[in-house]
Formats: sequence, C-alpha cells, structure tokens
Amino acid sequence: MASDGNSAARLTIVIFGASGDLAHRKLVPALFHLFKTGALPDLCQFIGVARSDMTDESFRSSLADAIGGLDDADRSSWDAFAGNISYVRGSSTDDESLKAIDAIVSNSCGPSMTDDRLYYLALAPGLYPTTLEALGRCGMLDQAAGSRRVVIEKPFGTDRESSQELNSVVHSVADESQVFRIDHYLGKETVQNLLVFRFANTIFEPVWNRNYVDNVQISVLESLDTEGRSGYYDRAGVLRDMMQSHLMQLLSLIAMEPPVSAGADALRTEKAKVLQAVRKYGTEEAAANSIRGQYDGYRGEEGVAPSSATATYGVTRLFIDNWRWQGVPFYLRSGKALSEKTSEIAIQFRPPPHTIFDTQSANVTPNLLQITIQPDEGVHLTFENKKPGTRMGTAPERLEYHFPEQVIRDAYERLLLDAIEGDQSLFTRSDEIELSWQIIDPFVQAWEQSLKSQLYQYERGSNGPAAADEFLGGGRRWHQHGSGDGE
Ligand code: BG6
Repeated sequence: MASDGNSAARLTIVIFGASGDLAHRKLVPALFHLFKTGALPDLCQFIGVARSDMTDESFRSSLADAIGGLDDADRSSWDAFAGNISYVRGSSTDDESLKAIDAIVSNSCGPSMTDDRLYYLALAPGLYPTTLEALGRCGMLDQAAGSRRVVIEKPFGTDRESSQELNSVVHSVADESQVFRIDHYLGKETVQNLLVFRFANTIFEPVWNRNYVDNVQISVLESLDTEGRSGYYDRAGVLRDMMQSHLMQLLSLIAMEPPVSAGADALRTEKAKVLQAVRKYGTEEAAANSIRGQYDGYRGEEGVAPSSATATYGVTRLFIDNWRWQGVPFYLRSGKALSEKTSEIAIQFRPPPHTIFDTQSANVTPNLLQITIQPDEGVHLTFENKKPGTRMGTAPERLEYHFPEQVIRDAYERLLLDAIEGDQSLFTRSDEIELSWQIIDPFVQAWEQSLKSQLYQYERGSNGPAAADEFLGGGRRWHQHGSGDGE
C-alpha cells in the first residue's frame, strides 16, 4: 500500500552501520541539508542502527560533531532535525534486533498511517547477503503497510559470479523495483549533465560516432592515496574500486544510444546495451589492452602486504562492437596519489581529412571536447582559429562553460531524495552490475596472474607511469584537465 496522498504517511529511514564513516560524513549531512531546504516529507524519522553502545543523545551529538561548523541558524534547524533521530543498538543480521526496529517503526505509525521505509545498508559488503536475508525473514520487505526500499552501497560483489549470487539473494527477498544500488557518480550534477548535453542538444549527435571520433578518454584521477583504507583497498585495487563502477557508468552514459525517455527503465536498458556491446576479452587480450601501476611507498602502508601487487593505477582500452563505435578505442584511466584530482571525459575528434593551409604556419589540431566532472565542473570545446596576422596560420582556441560553484551539491543529496521518491533512474540495475563485472573480470585475472602485465611503479604526486603515455599509441596523447589541446 503506497501513500495515496489522502491518508498520512510517515517515512522512516533506517541506517544500518550508523556509527560508521559513511553515515557521519555523507548520509546524515545530506539528509540534514535536504531537511533544511524542505525537500523531505513532513513526517520523517531516522533510526541509526549499529553495535556500538550509544544513547539517542550521544548518537545525535556524534553526528553534529561530524557535520561541524553549525552557526546559530543551523543550530536551531539541527535541533529540529535531530529531534527525529533515534538510535538502536543492534545488528542488521539478527532477527531480535530487526524485530525491535520493526516494532518501533510500526508503533510510530499506528494502523491508519502509511508506513514507508528506506533501509540504507551502510555496512561492510560482507554483511549484505545476511542482512537482506534477515530483513526478508522478518517480513520487513513486505510492502503491505507501505513502501519498503533498500539502498545498497558499492562494492556490489567482487566479480561477476559474486554479483550474480548477491543479486539472487536480493531477488529472493525483494523485487528489483525495491532495490537502489548506489554509484555516487550518478548523483553528481555533471554526470547527469552528460544526459542533457547529449540529448537536449542536436548539434553533437551527428558527430557522436566512429565517423568523427578518434578516441574517447575517461579519466578519474585522484591526488589522495588510500587514506587509511588500505586494508580494503589492497583487496580491491583500482579495477574493483573505481573501474567496475564509476568509470563503467561514465562509459555507458557517453556511449549509449538515445533512450526513448529519461525514465529508469528506458535509461538503464540503453546503458546495459552498451555494456553488452563492449568487447569481452580473454585474459591475454586483457593484459595486452591494459597498463597497471602502483605508487611508491604503497607497500609500506598499514594493512598492505609487503609484497602486494595491487594496482593503485590502471588504464584499460575497450572497444564497443556496435555500429556507432566500431573501432574507436575508449581509454579508461584511474589512479591514486597522482598530481591532481580531476575527473574528465575527453572526446578526441578526427583531424580534418585534408588541410588546405600551409603546414609551415598552420599546424591543425583536431577538435577536442572535454567534459569536466570535477573540479572546475564544465565543458570545453577546442577548435581551430585563425592566428591574427598577415599569414594564414591557425591556433587552437577554446569555448568553455563552467557551472557556478554554489550549485554543485553533494551527490548523496540527489540520490537519497530519488530513493525516497522511488525514482531508480540514477541507480544501477542488476544486469548493469553483472555486465560491468564481466568486462572487468579478465583484467583482474590478467593482473592477478601477472600475465604479461608489468606492475609499473610511479612516484607520488606524478602523472602515473610513463608507460601509460606509450600505451595510447598512434600518436595519441592524454588530455589532462584544463590543457585544451593536450599541451
Ligand atoms: C569511491 C572509492 O567509490 O570513490 C574511493 O571507493 C574514491 O576510493 C572515491 O576515492 C572517489 O569519489 P569522488 O567523488 O571523490 O571522485
């Protein structure tokens, strides 16, 4: 029974793993901001669940500390918001704890009120299956009294097989329409802008294909290292941590066919079709189409095996076997401890087929479209222009647009609101997850077997291994944020 707008409805957001970093740094600040802007339903309560020994009061004050810097105006909003927060000490996998939470929520709604719930699994991924099974066993995913939605954080599995197993647990207790698999990149304003840029303009579509595009570069580079998460990271590495999720989502948005609508089904079907069309490599081909690196000093970090071969940097070269993209290389690149933090998609167009200008004074640079996801969010188009003067020289110039800084909100705000409203467009469907693992698995295997795949060391604060430059081949070069023509 969903809310029909006539009877009152209360929304309860239950955060499992509430004592953790994600709840403190991301979820509660995002919910607080939504509350301040009046975006949350009028009747809304929050229940934090964790094993730590805390009272409602000490839980609220730990959240307030994490938000920090509350001025007087914020303080009174916080008090109003925090009045709806309570804490339950317990475990997400334990029936007794879940039944206690279920009773608290049901009692707060009473028989005449719609009891809508959002369960957020801010937990160690190993706990997802048992938590989902326990929620199912306790009848807490049954939608008779109101909606029951579950938000699941990445990583969703560690390879194709484990993602299939997890999906089958999910589907044994809930319908796909109840499941919201988060990839926070889809909550970023600039990632959503990819859809607007491609499908609310007519001028790009005619050139968005193999006839005009030479190659596509998707780079998500970070200056931070593994930031005390080395224990997790050493098992994941760049392929599982970034490539399978964020970069694969960016690839599907850039390469997909126009969907018939922006609705969740239409959008996700087109994204899945691109992933289906990505060429599936064997391990040897995966090794030949990738480069991996590790920053100096990584092995000395706490939680990292002294002989660890985990890659903190990686480049993969993918091909999409369909009419639009046949033969166009898509380079996906990501790494940690690099010179700068930048996420950007560069679409390198082909050079003009013939130049009529004197090549002495005109060195025609092919057009380049750079869509910057962060920082300096915006779009840059590099084109050739006449060099002023008495000769017919040319030089690259740029058209640019930048989002005003204040409009960029944290991705979790948008995603939480969509999950509350039941809009799945910006969440990953089960088939997308399994397909992206299918693409990444051969790289993981090739790298783990060190199959013809050297692990290059690179200095912290550098641009990554020099081998990544040679890897592009064909006179191509990486386009770095703000570099325009790549110089
Ligand atoms: C996370 C990864 O999913 O994304 C982190 O686990 C990474 O390792 C982070 O640092 C990057 O996100 P953003 O939004 O800072 O680019």
